[in-house]
Amino acid sequence: MSEIRVWDPLVRIFHWSLVAGFTANALFNDPEGKPHEVIGLAVLGLVALRIIWGLIGTRHARFADFPPSISASLGQVEEMATGRKHIHKGHSPLGALMIYNLLLTLIVIGATGYMMTTLAFFGVDWVEEVHESAVTWAEISVIAHIAAVFLESRRLGINLPKSMLTGYKNIPAAGKDG
Ligand code: HEM
Ligand code: HEM
Repeated sequence: MSEIRVWDPLVRIFHWSLVAGFTANALFNDPEGKPHEVIGLAVLGLVALRIIWGLIGTRHARFADFPPSISASLGQVEEMATGRKHIHKGHSPLGALMIYNLLLTLIVIGATGYMMTTLAFFGVDWVEEVHESAVTWAEISVIAHIAAVFLESRRLGINLPKSMLTGYKNIPAAGKDG
């Protein structure tokens, strides 16, 4: 077992603030109230910050460290089916696809949410419909994201949620780099 540092503080603070903000807006506060707009815009700000950090941040935080790849993702599905283990220090290929999906969906939610507060788009049906559909898609994605995190933690013997809290991953001795 070796312990390696993977997630810098910005990635971890980003992640758990995003979880709090998204959950508050999707489940708890009144969508017609001011807190909904303030929290929603804060989430959009977090995503913007994460995109900048994806370009200039630490090694595993950079987009270049987890490029979207269909073939690598299919390879990961094959590993899951055959029981072969390939440990990724940073994000896995399927994890990467989910991250891009979530970031893009959050941008659509934030942009349409903001549009509803402007004179030009206030009361325009399609904007509200896109906002709602994108929220539903994000909720489905989050359920899949959480399920995948727990399934992959069990398969690989690495506590992934803990690593997003502490910044460190415990790599089993048999694991390979990647
Ligand atoms: C309790 C629920 C959640 C848990 C346990 C969880 C856990 C994790 C873990 C372990 C990772 C790193 C995966 C890896 O090792 O590659 C991750 C990444 C990520 N998660 Fe979650 N997650 C949760 C909820 C959410 C929610 C609600 C969202 C968004 C709405 C979200 C968005 C993301 C994003 C964008 C990343 C990429 C982080 C980065 O590189 O900056 N997660 N999550
Ligand atoms: C994390 C991001 C966000 C989430 C999860 C979210 C979620 C939601 C949900 C669940 C609804 C209710 C849809 C329905 O009626 O079924 C809603 C409506 C709405 N949201 Fe958001 N939202 C987010 C960001 C924003 C932002 C950034 C703004 C504006 C700055 C905004 C403004 C609105 C408005 C104006 C409505 C319509 C309220 C009404 O029914 O009159 N949202 N949002």
